[in-house]
Amino acid sequence: MDNNSQTIALDVYGTLINTSGVLSWLRKNLGEKAEPFSEIWRTKQLEYSFRRGLMDRYVDFSIVTKEALEYTSLALNIQLNASEQAELLHQYRILPAFEDVIVGVENLKAAGHQVYAYSNGSHKAVAELLEQAKVLSLLNGVVSMEDVRTFKPDPIGYRHFCDTTRSEVQHTWMVSGNNFDAIGARSFGMQTAWLKRNPSGIFDPMGFEPTISISTLSDLARAIDQFLIEKKHEQ
Ligand code: LAC
Repeated sequence: MDNNSQTIALDVYGTLINTSGVLSWLRKNLGEKAEPFSEIWRTKQLEYSFRRGLMDRYVDFSIVTKEALEYTSLALNIQLNASEQAELLHQYRILPAFEDVIVGVENLKAAGHQVYAYSNGSHKAVAELLEQAKVLSLLNGVVSMEDVRTFKPDPIGYRHFCDTTRSEVQHTWMVSGNNFDAIGARSFGMQTAWLKRNPSGIFDPMGFEPTISISTLSDLARAIDQFLIEKKHEQ
């Protein structure tokens, strides 16, 4: 590893993989309730993961997803039969990757970085999604919160990532479209790149600003390079 080689943790849902991918099924079946359905589902999924982490009640992330789906149908008063529910959960297992993912990962590899997916999702779920998206074979590996039976942003997870990949915290980058994840990693001490997938997205003002912000993964390798050059000049 040369001095500039960094370890990159790419978040999965909302960063590599587009959770709005369920929208076409939802639009076909629920019409105008599709957008609120998708938003509430994702918001509750994350809330349930935070709460389970705090309560020390880990379950596989797919169960969290299922429980959040149940909540969403109750909240919007939409009765899903067993086969519709199974179909939606299936859609979640075949979500598409964002368009900039392959080129973004290729740029990082070409720059000499070690690149991992790092997710709340299980090894199996993440590997299947990334295999379908033709990204898995480009990566150095997948690290899952499943190994430590808690969810992001528990610092145990960021420590586990650094230990598993044998990386020094200050040379390790959390790249996430979910700002709670970037904030959690920064609080732990990692470098962070906030991938601003939503142009009107707001970074929570909690005092853990990202090292860099980008609007597409294609720019990540260049932005890290620039950061490292500037840092060298400061020394
Ligand atoms: C993940 C969640 C945070 O992939 O989206 O870990």
